Amino acid sequence: MHKDIEKIILSETEIAELCKQLGAQITKDYANSESLTLVGLLKGTVPFIADLMREIDLPLTVEYMDVSSYHGGVESTGEVKILKDLDTPVASRDVLIVEDVIDTGKTLKTIVELLKQRGANSVKVVTLVDKTIKRIVELDVDYIGCKMGGEFIVGYGLDYDELYRNLKYIGVLKEEVYQ
Ligand code: PRP
Repeated sequence: MHKDIEKIILSETEIAELCKQLGAQITKDYANSESLTLVGLLKGTVPFIADLMREIDLPLTVEYMDVSSYHGGVESTGEVKILKDLDTPVASRDVLIVEDVIDTGKTLKTIVELLKQRGANSVKVVTLVDKTIKRIVELDVDYIGCKMGGEFIVGYGLDYDELYRNLKYIGVLKEEVYQ
């Protein structure tokens, strides 16, 4: 285990199992859709969307947006900035937004509303981790890998100051690292 990690919350094996389960459910639910588009929110989504898309046994397209809300600290500021937009329009498509973690929900609420306004046929959300305790805005989350408390977690895409994204597991960061 990395020296800055207090404890592992989701192991590599557990994450793989969650991706399998979520992928199977999504495959079932979208079986009649002819226009599924996964929209990954960079950068945290990268490992998750890579694993999840390979567990979905359907034709699909993949798009990315870069949306920022943390700006380097450990708390979400709630301010949502679009740093990179979609390459292809999502009008008339069934959009599934793929998130690594939801805290306040502000990022997703903003993006869900935006993609609906752009004429998507449907907009749903899948997240690997849901920190419901941190929720500020009301938000429907359609697929949740795992619910967690408010601990500051890193790994498998999640960062602190851009580090730790490459860990194969999700773990709690030692307080001394960010104090
Ligand atoms: C994180 C995370 C979500 C968002 C959740 O992204 O990936 O997109 O914050 O916070 P919220 O529910 O309070 O809005 P971040 O802005 O840190 O970008 P990153 O994925 O590049 O690390």
